Amino acid sequence: MNIMLPLLVILLSLLTVTTFANFNNGVDITWGGGRGKIAEGGELLTLSLDKVSGSGFQSKSEYLFGRIDMKIKLVPGNSAGTVTAYYLSSLGPTHDEIDFEFLGNVSGEPYTLHTNVFSQGKGNREQQFYLWFDPRMDFHNYTVVWNPQQILFYVDGTPIRVFKNNEAHGIPYPKAQPMKLYSSLWAAEDWATRGGLVKTDWSKAPFVAAYRGFSADSSPKGSWWSQSLDAAGAQKLKWVHDNYMIYDYCKDSRRAPPPECFL
Ligand SMILES: *[C@@H]1O[C@H](CO)[C@@H](O)[C@H](O)[C@H]1NC(C)=O
Ligand SMILES: *[C@@H]1O[C@H](CO)[C@@H](O)[C@H](O)[C@H]1NC(C)=O
Repeated sequence: MNIMLPLLVILLSLLTVTTFANFNNGVDITWGGGRGKIAEGGELLTLSLDKVSGSGFQSKSEYLFGRIDMKIKLVPGNSAGTVTAYYLSSLGPTHDEIDFEFLGNVSGEPYTLHTNVFSQGKGNREQQFYLWFDPRMDFHNYTVVWNPQQILFYVDGTPIRVFKNNEAHGIPYPKAQPMKLYSSLWAAEDWATRGGLVKTDWSKAPFVAAYRGFSADSSPKGSWWSQSLDAAGAQKLKWVHDNYMIYDYCKDSRRAPPPECFL
C-alpha cells in the first residue's frame, strides 16, 4: 500500500480548483437529443433549438462560492421568443440560484438581459438590462463572482449588479448550498419577447447559441474571495444602472419591495 498516494490526491485536488475547462471534461450535455454539441476538441460548445426541442448542459463540478467566467455568443438574427438561460443553482424547493437569462428579440432590436438571485427558494429580485453592444455579433464574457460577502455580476469586466450579504439584517444569503452551473436554450414565445407579443419565427430555426472560455475558480485563495467594488467599479455600476437598466424590482411600484431595497 503506497502511503504517498492519498497525499498526492489531496495535492492534486488543491491544484485543480481553478479549472479552465475544456468542455469535454468540464460539462455534461444533459438534454436535447443531440442538439447540444461540443466541437474544436472541447473549446466550443453550441446549443440549438428547433420546433421539437431545445438543449442544455451543466457543469460536472459544483461550487460553494467561486468565480465563474463564460464567453457566450447569443442567437444571431431574429431570436424572438427564445431564451438562453445561464445560471448557478443548487436546485430543490429551498434552492439558491444566481441567474443570467438572455431574452431574444427580432433583428435590430435589443436582447434583454434578465438577472435574479434566489436564497433559500425565494427569488423575485429581478433586474433587467439592455447591453451596450449587440450580444449576437460576438462572444462576450459573462462572470459571476460569488463570495461570502456578496454576489457580483459582470459583463466584459463591467459590473452590472451587486447583491450583498445582508444576513445581519435578517435577509437570507446563499452560503451553504453548493451550486452547479447550468445553461439551456429553449422556447418561450408566450412571454419572452415584448411580454409575448412577438412570436418565434420558426422558419429561422435552428437557433444556435455558442460558448467558449469556461473557467471556474473556487479556491478561497483566489482574489475573488474578497472581491468587492472599488470606487472605479462603483462608478461603472452606476453608469450601467443609469443608462442600461430597464427594470429594477426595488423600484417597481406594483410590488412591495423586499427589505434589502431599503438598506
Ligand atoms: C472575464 O471577466 C473577468 C472579470 O470580470 C476577468 O477576470 C476574466 O479574465 C475575463 N475572462 C476572459 C476570458 O476574458
Ligand atoms: C425587444 O425590443 C423591443 C422594442 O425595442 C423592446 O421593447 C424590448 O424590451 C426588447 N426585448 C425583449 C426581450 O422584448
